[in-house]
Formats: sequence, C-alpha cells, structure tokens
Amino acid sequence: MSNVVASQFELHQEFGGVVPEIASRAHVRRILPVLDEALSRADCRLGDLSAIAVTSEPGLVGSLLVGFTAAKTLAMSLNVPLFTVNHIDAHIYACGMGGESAAYPSVGFVVSGGHTNLYDCRSATDSRLFAGTTDDAAGEAFDKVARILGLPYPGGPSVQAAAESGNPNAFKLPRPMMRADRIDFSFSGLKTAVLYKARGLPGPDQLTETPAEMVPDLAASFQQAVVDVLVFKCRLALKKLNCNRLCVGGGVAANRLFREQLTEMCRRHSVELLIAPLELCTDNAAMAAIAWEYLDQGLTAELDADILPGLVRPGTKRR
Ligand code: KG4
Ligand code: ZN
Repeated sequence: MSNVVASQFELHQEFGGVVPEIASRAHVRRILPVLDEALSRADCRLGDLSAIAVTSEPGLVGSLLVGFTAAKTLAMSLNVPLFTVNHIDAHIYACGMGGESAAYPSVGFVVSGGHTNLYDCRSATDSRLFAGTTDDAAGEAFDKVARILGLPYPGGPSVQAAAESGNPNAFKLPRPMMRADRIDFSFSGLKTAVLYKARGLPGPDQLTETPAEMVPDLAASFQQAVVDVLVFKCRLALKKLNCNRLCVGGGVAANRLFREQLTEMCRRHSVELLIAPLELCTDNAAMAAIAWEYLDQGLTAELDADILPGLVRPGTKRR
C-alpha cells in the first residue's frame, strides 16, 4: 500500500561509500518519520497492521539493529506476528513482483553494493548460495571506479552516465575469472587495472587525478568488462544448475547495458528472464512482501530472534 525509502546517498557522498556508523545514526533519526510517512501514504494507522516484517540478515550490524528493534517493539506492542526477512531472498522475490510469472524455481542473481551472489532458488523459502565474490562486489567496484574517475557516489549511475559518450573498446581491461571452471567472481583486480590506466603505475609519475578526457572511455571500458563477466557467469550458472529461468535483483541490475546484454543472452538461449522493475532493483520496503510466503507457511519469528549480519556459506539452506 506504500513503499517509502529514506535514501542516505547525500550523507555518504563525501566519503565515496557507505560509512557504517553514519548509516546507523541516520537509521535512528529516520525510522519513525519513515514509519509515519508509510502509514499516512497507505492511509492507515498502526492499529490496522496485522503483521510486521523486517530485514534481519545480512547487512551492517548497526543498521539492522535499529530496524529490528523497532520492528520487535511494534510487533510486541501491537500484539501481531513478526516475520524476519533475508534481504537477499527479498531481492530475488522482488523479481516476480508486479508481474505474472512465477520467480521459482530459478537461478537467482543478487548484484548490489554488498553482494555478487548466484543462488539455486527452489522456492521463496528455499534458496541456496551457489557462488559469490572472492573480494569486491560488482556495485562496490562501480563505486570505487567512480572515485578513481572523480565521479560522484553512488558510482553505478554516474559511471553509466559517463560511459554513454565513451568507447567500450578504448581500453583493454581484464575480464576476471571469465572461465568455465570458475563460477565465482573477483573485481578488485579489475578496479586496480582501471586505476593504473587512469593514473599510471605507482611511483613518482603517478597522477593524483584522472585526466578528464579519459573518463568517458575508461567508464565505458570498465562497464563493458563488468557486464561481460556478469552475463557470462549467469549463463554458466544456468547451465550448471540445468535451469531456464533467471531472476536478477540488486542495485547493479538497474544498469542499462547489463539489462540489454542479459536480455540478449537469455533470448539466445531460451531462458526466461525476470529482472525487478527499476524502483524494485535498489533497496526498498516493498521487497519485504516475501513475508506473505512466510505467513502462509506459519514461519513467524520469536521476539528473542536476533540479527545475522554475516552471509551464509555456500550450499546451506537458509530457512
Ligand atoms: O541493492 P542496492 O541498492 O544496495 C545494496 O548494496 O544492498 O545496490 C547499490 C549498488 C551501488 O553500489 C550502486 O553503485 C549500484 O548498486 N548501482 C549501479 C547502478 N545503479 C545502482 N551499478 C551500475 N549501474 C547502475 N545503473
Ligand atoms: Zn540490497
């Protein structure tokens, strides 16, 4: 009925990335105004709510704690059931929202600022981590490359915009681990390769800023390298899991080149592709609608439940 997002971009902008302590404090300040706004946009009151769903994992400890404490307090004082939501499951679930198609079974791909993970998704309540990144997440690489190129945070949209006028073949950049025997990801080497192209090798001659005329071509070449790897690994996962449905969510799924090339790959191989609508790709409140599935199965949480900031290991069932 309403989907209110309190963005913190402007608070983290000067640091070029999310600062956990600033994020937690902003959560404390904003949670009640956001709750009020969500209720008012939905034209309802606290007493009208029949359940509370809240993200419990994974994420930054402080931010998770603020939301979790507020949610428990509401559930207890309103005497309604509490549902804990896995943020990654919710990103995948969002792919099926607003559409006619079922999202399961599928290969789920969550590609955001914190994750570049492929999942074997059997149902809304049973998805297993299949592959992840050994270092940086794809969105994190976009954010760090934006800093190298002197572009504003968040890096994804600004690198994409700069790339519009650039040549994706201008710079030869690595496609890390783009091999059939490696399903996992690595982006830190690519980021360093961009740094060296932009500023030169470490030493007295290394530049402190990237020359402005290089920015569009470097942005386009970097974006192409990331997209090549992401699309290749999606295809590999579909083959390995013998699956013909792909669900993609997370902030990087908003990237235009990625959407185009993924659409083309899926068309070529007769794979059904579900990408969340743009406003549901990046973090939002509506993705907690996955709790409807938990409601159906009676998967309520106890009030002594706790947050789980870390990521589950490959091959484990989450619920
Ligand atoms: O899912 P999300 O909103 O937050 C989490 O990280 O959970 O994803 C944010 C990430 C940021 O790293 C941002 O740079 C990236 O998604 N992003 C993009 C685009 N829009 C957002 N990356 C590439 N192209 C975009 N258009
Ligand atoms: Zn997210």
